[in-house]
Amino acid sequence: MKKTSLLAILSIAAAIQLSAQPPASPGPAMNTFITNLMSKMTLDEKLGQLNLPGAGDITTGQASNSNIAGKIKEGKVGGLFNIKSVAKIRDVQKVAVEQSRLKIPLLFGMDVIHGYETVFPIPLGLSCSWDMDAVEKSARIAATEASADGICWTFSPMVDISRDPRWGRIAEGNGEDPYLGSMIAKAMVKGYQRDLKNNTDIMACVKHYALYGAAEAGRDYNTTDMSRVRMFNEYLPPYKAAVDAGVGSVMASFNEVDGIPATANKFLQTDVLRTRWGFKGFVVTDYTGINEMIDHGLGDLQTVSALALKAGIDMDMVGEGFLTTLKKSLQQGKVTQAQIDAACRRVLEAKYKLGLFKDPYKYCDEKRAAAEIFTDANRKEARRIAADCFVLLKNQGNVLPLKRGGTIALVGPLADNKENMPGTWSVAADFTKSISVLQGLKDAARDQTKIIYAQGSNLDEDSVFEVRAGMFGKSLHRDPRPVEQSIQEAVQAASQADVVVAALGESAEMSGESSSRSNIEIPKVQQRLLEALLRTGKPVVLVLFTGRPLAIKWENDNAPAILNVWFGGSEAGHAIADVLFGDVNPSGKLSTTWPQNVGQVPLYYNHKTTGRPLAEGAWFQKFRSNYLDVSNDPVYPFGYGLSYTHFTYGDLVLSSKSLKGAQKLTASVTVTNDGAREGKEVVQLYIRDLVGSITRPVKELKGFQKITLSAGETKTVTFTISTEDLKFYNSDLKYDWEPGEFDIMVGGNSRDAKSVRVNWVK
Ligand code: BGC
Repeated sequence: MKKTSLLAILSIAAAIQLSAQPPASPGPAMNTFITNLMSKMTLDEKLGQLNLPGAGDITTGQASNSNIAGKIKEGKVGGLFNIKSVAKIRDVQKVAVEQSRLKIPLLFGMDVIHGYETVFPIPLGLSCSWDMDAVEKSARIAATEASADGICWTFSPMVDISRDPRWGRIAEGNGEDPYLGSMIAKAMVKGYQRDLKNNTDIMACVKHYALYGAAEAGRDYNTTDMSRVRMFNEYLPPYKAAVDAGVGSVMASFNEVDGIPATANKFLQTDVLRTRWGFKGFVVTDYTGINEMIDHGLGDLQTVSALALKAGIDMDMVGEGFLTTLKKSLQQGKVTQAQIDAACRRVLEAKYKLGLFKDPYKYCDEKRAAAEIFTDANRKEARRIAADCFVLLKNQGNVLPLKRGGTIALVGPLADNKENMPGTWSVAADFTKSISVLQGLKDAARDQTKIIYAQGSNLDEDSVFEVRAGMFGKSLHRDPRPVEQSIQEAVQAASQADVVVAALGESAEMSGESSSRSNIEIPKVQQRLLEALLRTGKPVVLVLFTGRPLAIKWENDNAPAILNVWFGGSEAGHAIADVLFGDVNPSGKLSTTWPQNVGQVPLYYNHKTTGRPLAEGAWFQKFRSNYLDVSNDPVYPFGYGLSYTHFTYGDLVLSSKSLKGAQKLTASVTVTNDGAREGKEVVQLYIRDLVGSITRPVKELKGFQKITLSAGETKTVTFTISTEDLKFYNSDLKYDWEPGEFDIMVGGNSRDAKSVRVNWVK
C-alpha cells in the first residue's frame, strides 16, 4: 500500500484551501458553493461530472473502461464504481483532487447489496425476517464496512416488487408486497445513510426505478407494461418510501414502461419522481442504460443520450453517451445548457452532502479498513439475523429441531460448499471465508453427534446451470461418477443415520441478474436424490437453498420437514445449524407466495376478485376464474412460516364497527404461545376495501408486529388504523380513501386471518 507523504498531504490541504471551503450543512450555503464552483467549470468539465465509469475490480456487467486516470485528470469522470480497497480509492481520489483542474472529488460506488465483506442473507431472505431493526442493522453494518474500505455510495436498496419467481432478480428484492417493501426500503435507507454526517454513513441509491420486477414472462430486461393505477398502488410505493426516507440517489431501470425505456422516461424521472414526490437527489442510469436504448429502438447514441438528459437522468453509468454526445446536442439545440447544468449541480450536491469537498479522503482511513471489516461482532450479527430469515415450511411430527447425539447423514450438492452461501450480489465478499452447512453442523454438534457426509448428486445432471450460472468463482464440486453411484452412496449414509439432512436446491447464481428460469423446480437429479433418501424410511429434513419461490408441491407432500434457508450470507452454515439444532427457534415468514406450479405464475395474495371469483375452498367451478388442472391455492401463502412452538390467536376485537372520518380504529388480538418453548411470531394486519370506484384487492397488508412470547405466555397485540390506511390511487391517480365497508383481518399469515367488518363513513 502506498503511503501518502507529508508533502502530499500539505499540497492536498493547500489545494483544498484554494477552492472555497464549504460549510458543514447543505442548504443555501451549498447552493452558493456549487454556483460558485460551476461558474468556473467548462462545458466538458460539467459533462465529466455526469460520467460514471466502472473500475473493473469487480465484474457486474460487460464493457470496462480504460485509461481512467487520464480521464480523471482531464475532469471527465464524476465518480467510479467497482473499485475495492482504501489504498486504491485514495490513489484515485488523489488524482482527482490534485491533478484535475478544479480538484473536484470523485464519488466511489459499489453494489453493497446485502452486506459488504460480512454478508447478510439475500434481500428476499432478509425480507422474511419482518424485523425492521434487523434490516436496518444489516444496512448499517454494510455501510460501516464499505465506508471503512473507501466506498461512499451503494447501489442499494433494490426495492422492485416482483410476483414472478421466474425472474432471477426476485432474489434481490423484498418480495411481492408494497407495504412490506416500503417498510424495508425505509429501514435500508436509514441504515445506510443516517444523516450522512459521519464517515460511516454512505449514500443509498434506490433501484431499479421503475417496475423492473414486472418483466414479462419473468425474463430479465424484458418489457414491462401496466396501468398507471396498478403502478401507483402496487409497484411504486417502495421507491416512494425510499424517497420519503431521504434517499440520496435513484437508479433508472433497464426496462421500458409505457413504451419508453425508464432511462428516457420523463413521466417517471421527472413528473413522478421530482414533481409528485419532491425528490431532490440525483438519478443515475443502470449499467449502459443509455446505450441500450439504441437496441430498444429509440435512435443512435446522440439521440438516446439527449432523451435521457431531457427525461431527468443526471449520471451515465459506463456507456459514456453523455460524455461523448451532449456537447454536440447542445450545439444543435437538442438539449439546453440549463438541462446540463441541472444534472451537474445534482451530482455536485451529492458530493457536497457527503462532505467530500470538505474532506475528499473522508472515507479513506486505513485504520478503519483494518479494524472494521468482517469483524467477529459483525459476523455474530450476520449469524443472528440469518437465523431469523429462515422459513420453516413444514415440520411434520416435529422432526426438527434435531436432537444432539446419534448420527446425522448430511447430503446434497450444497452441503459442503462455502462459495455459494453468500448468494448472488455479494461482490465484496471473500467466499472462501463463509461457513458451509457441514462446517456449521460440525461446530454445533459439540462432538455429541456423528455426521456422515455424502454429496449425493451434482447440482444438475448436464451442468447447464453450473456452466451458465456458475460465475464469479461460485461453482460447486462436480462429482464425475455416474449419478446412480453418488445417490447410492448417500442412501448408504442415510441408512446408517438417525436422521437425514438434505441440502438441496439452487446454487447462488441460479438467481440474481440474468438468471431467469422457466422451470422453478429443484433440478431433476436432486429430486431423484430426495426420492431415494425418502425411500430409506429415515426422517428427512430438506434444507432448501433458493433465491426465488420454488414450485415444491411434491417435496411438500412427501418430505416431513422443510427449512428454507435462501442464501444466508457469510455465517449461513452456523445459522442453519443454530436452527436445525433448535438453539434458535425459526420465525421467518414468507414475503412471496409459493405456487404449486409455474403455470400459476403470477400468483400473489393481494389479487383482485374478478367478476367470476371461485367459491372459497373450491378447486374448480365451470365458468369461474380457475384452472382445470390445478387449484388456485398456493403451496405456501404470503406471510406463512412455522415455529418450533405454536401460537393460537384469540378473537379479533375492534374498538368500533362504525366509524366516521378522522376517528381511529383499534384492532386487538390476543396471541398465546401454547407450545413448550419461547418463540417469535409476526402478527399481520390486512384490510379489504369491499366497494371502491376501482376494483380493490381481496386483502392488503397494512401493519405487522413481530413479538416474542415465552412458553405459555399470552400477549395482546393492538393495531391502530386510520383513514390513511384506507387510501389508494383512484382512476385519476388521486390518493384518497372512499367510505364504505372494510374487512379488518389479523393473523399469522395472509390466508389464516380472523376477520371483522366495519363501516367507515366520511
Ligand atoms: C445492475 C445494477 C447494478 C449495476 C452496477 C447492473 O447490471 O442491474 O443493479 O447496480 O449493474 O453494478
